[in-house]
Amino acid sequence: MAIVGATGAVGVEMIGCLEQRRFPLAELRLLASARSAGKTLEFRGEPLTVRELTESSFAGVDLALFSAGSSVSKKFAPIAARAGATVIDNSSAFRMDPEVPLVVPEINPQALRGHRGIIANPNCTAIISITPLWPVHQANRIVRLLIASYQSASGAGAAAMEELREATRAYLEGRPYEQRVLPHPYAFNVFSHNARVDPASGYNEEEIKVREETRKIFGDPELRVSATCIRVPVLRAHSVAINFECQRPISPEEVRRLVAGAPGVKLVDDRERNYFPMPRDASGGDPILVGRIRQDVSDPSGRSIALFVAGDQLLKGAALNAVQIAEIL
Ligand code: A2P
Repeated sequence: MAIVGATGAVGVEMIGCLEQRRFPLAELRLLASARSAGKTLEFRGEPLTVRELTESSFAGVDLALFSAGSSVSKKFAPIAARAGATVIDNSSAFRMDPEVPLVVPEINPQALRGHRGIIANPNCTAIISITPLWPVHQANRIVRLLIASYQSASGAGAAAMEELREATRAYLEGRPYEQRVLPHPYAFNVFSHNARVDPASGYNEEEIKVREETRKIFGDPELRVSATCIRVPVLRAHSVAINFECQRPISPEEVRRLVAGAPGVKLVDDRERNYFPMPRDASGGDPILVGRIRQDVSDPSGRSIALFVAGDQLLKGAALNAVQIAEIL
């Protein structure tokens, strides 16, 4: 097995997931850029040396997990597949390719059948938003989905997490800080997601990914989706405020029952204590936390529900989902 981008924020979590879940493997090959060649990372108590990713990195590899950005995936995923490896790619490079399965194991594991060597791991905000909604969609089709995300630094990589720490320290000490990774001051601030904005529609690429990937994973091209994606100064878990409209009337009790039984999801919905999903509670854990489940009173037909979720972007939003796909394979 190989991990491409093993030194990155997601890559390190992939190593952790393989170890924690006792993934059956004979050898783990850690690959990154030339900058990291020779570094060591620990796996199952042993130091493993990181190697530079090259065209000959994949000889003898059965499974390759990629998380080194789209351009690396575009170039090296086909090379890995030609060398006989099955690629699970965490970048957006192949997600909307009709021949590439885009998989959340709790939702559409059947899409893995007949893959052609490359499988795409979905966008983190899409995974965290829609995994809890799948049982609802099956019971009473969701026809419209509105989401507003509160996205952490980790989605922009290890360097963005470090920028949040440094910018916060500088702010508290009254020092100037010039941001290098994200386009706006990050400490004690909130800003529109750093993805490129489509000038015609006004939606940014993150919002478009959430819409298109949700439709592909649910197998429902008619689903109406509108997303507003925002960066917040949180290190590693995304939160999302969700409103959805079903085909038929639906009660919060029914949604609570469906969500409580959903795999990969944990209900955190304590109105008395005002205790609901928080990124701090989601960080470092596998389940997506779901709460604030209530009737959306702006829809008098009784078909709409509002809720709030939080999930670890690096785990279920990326590394864990990829390793779960590997387990199915
Ligand atoms: P490196 O640490 O050597 O730069 P993150 O998402 O946290 O920014 O991590 C990105 C990951 O992708 C890192 O492991 C990084 O390695 C790796 N990476 C970036 N560019 C390349 C490249 N051109 N070839 C191989 N790995 C790369």
